[in-house]
Amino acid sequence: MNGEKRGKGTFETTTESPEETLRLGRLLGEILPPGSFVALVGILGAGKTLLAKGIAGGLGVGNEREVTSPSFVLVNEYRGRFPVFHLDLYRLENFAAVEEIGWDEFVCGPGVTLVEWADKVEEDLPEERIEVHLQWLSEEERKIVFSPRGTPGKKIIAELEHRWKKEA
Ligand SMILES: Nc1ncnc2c1ncn2[C@@H]1O[C@H](COP(=O)(O)OP(=O)(O)OP(=O)(O)O)[C@@H](O)[C@H]1O
Ligand SMILES: [Mg+2]
Repeated sequence: MNGEKRGKGTFETTTESPEETLRLGRLLGEILPPGSFVALVGILGAGKTLLAKGIAGGLGVGNEREVTSPSFVLVNEYRGRFPVFHLDLYRLENFAAVEEIGWDEFVCGPGVTLVEWADKVEEDLPEERIEVHLQWLSEEERKIVFSPRGTPGKKIIAELEHRWKKEA
């Protein structure tokens, strides 16, 4: 999950406030089809949870404020247009723990799955996914890079880029 693997179809942008990251997330949530898997990668405070909040909002989860890092329970489930699963693997010690809570459902199920610290289980991620790398640039600026893995992600990211630029 490093920069070298970034290929065609990548969309990179910089947000200049938390609100902007939320807005970007909402746009993505509005276009994600059921079955999507989003791998969120970035250091502490990069903005993974904030982006996940926006995505959940865009997916129709009524109360975005409910969306917080599920650090202790590993997974939170919200009800949007489809089931939304939000995982935070920061404290994950071994893969068995996520297998126990039903990893297969997150990977193959009809819901949308958002995973913070997805790089911790890189080997076990579905081949088709959207990878999002968030980088801290300054107190209020984040570089956010969306890269598709597999064909469906390419269209989604292209649409996201289109909508984001139209809004700007
Ligand atoms: N442009 C920005 N985008 C996102 N967050 C920002 C931005 N500017 C400032 N912030 C702040 O950075 C913090 C991001 O926190 P968030 O919980 O989303 O990070 P995280 O990547 O989930 O961290 P963790 O690994 O600890 O869960 C928030 O306090 C937010 O207000
Ligand atoms: Mg977080």
